[in-house]
Amino acid sequence: MDVFAPMGGVVKVDAAAMDMDLVNTVATLMQTRQTILPKRLMPPGPDPTQMRLILEAAASAPDHGQLLPWRFVVVPDAARDALARVFGEALSERDPLATAEQVSQAREKAYRSPFLMLVVVDAMRGDPEIDLHERIVSAGCAVQNVLLMATAWGYGSALTSGKALKSTVLRTLFSLDAGEHALCFLSIGSVQSRKKTPLRPVHDDFVSVLLG
Ligand SMILES: Cc1cc2nc3c(=O)[nH]c(=O)nc-3n(C[C@H](O)[C@H](O)[C@H](O)COP(=O)(O)O)c2cc1C
Repeated sequence: MDVFAPMGGVVKVDAAAMDMDLVNTVATLMQTRQTILPKRLMPPGPDPTQMRLILEAAASAPDHGQLLPWRFVVVPDAARDALARVFGEALSERDPLATAEQVSQAREKAYRSPFLMLVVVDAMRGDPEIDLHERIVSAGCAVQNVLLMATAWGYGSALTSGKALKSTVLRTLFSLDAGEHALCFLSIGSVQSRKKTPLRPVHDDFVSVLLG
């Protein structure tokens, strides 16, 4: 079997010596993950032991300089009212003409998924030579690890963003430092219903070879 060598090129490997079950399991896991939006997630969410294991998966993300440039802020049930208030205020601030129904819809998003957390990236922590792009890549890898681990445990998950992430009210609620950015929310829960898996790009859609 041909595989890409870490130092470049292709090497022959003994397929029998490889753990093909592991290869297939990982491939299946990655292909199985799909966004299950918070409105399609329901209780129960992961129990505390599962949740810890799911979140610890983030620690294996590549992290140039070991800066730990990202962090997660869990939003427990007790804090959902505060988040709802912020979602409502963020909408009213950016659109003073928003109707009471629109504000109510914005507020309702705070209550949707059994487990909810904010993903934060820090542009300034540690070595300033490591710029924001690298830090966001590290955060993305950490997030993907979490999504895959949640999938492995049989839960649905989703990332959601939105204009409220940049609002002062949200930054204040989550006590974000000046160099921190709210990247997205991450939701996890049991799958109520799922849509068809989206059409995935194929190898040639995103791989090209540099012409020497
Ligand atoms: C940072 C980030 C934020 C996202 N925010 C939203 C969102 O606000 N609403 C939404 O429907 N999907 C959101 N998504 C999910 C994408 O729409 C989704 O990943 C894409 O449609 C591919 O579907 P899949 O995850 O099932 O492969 C977000 C994805 C990322 C990476």
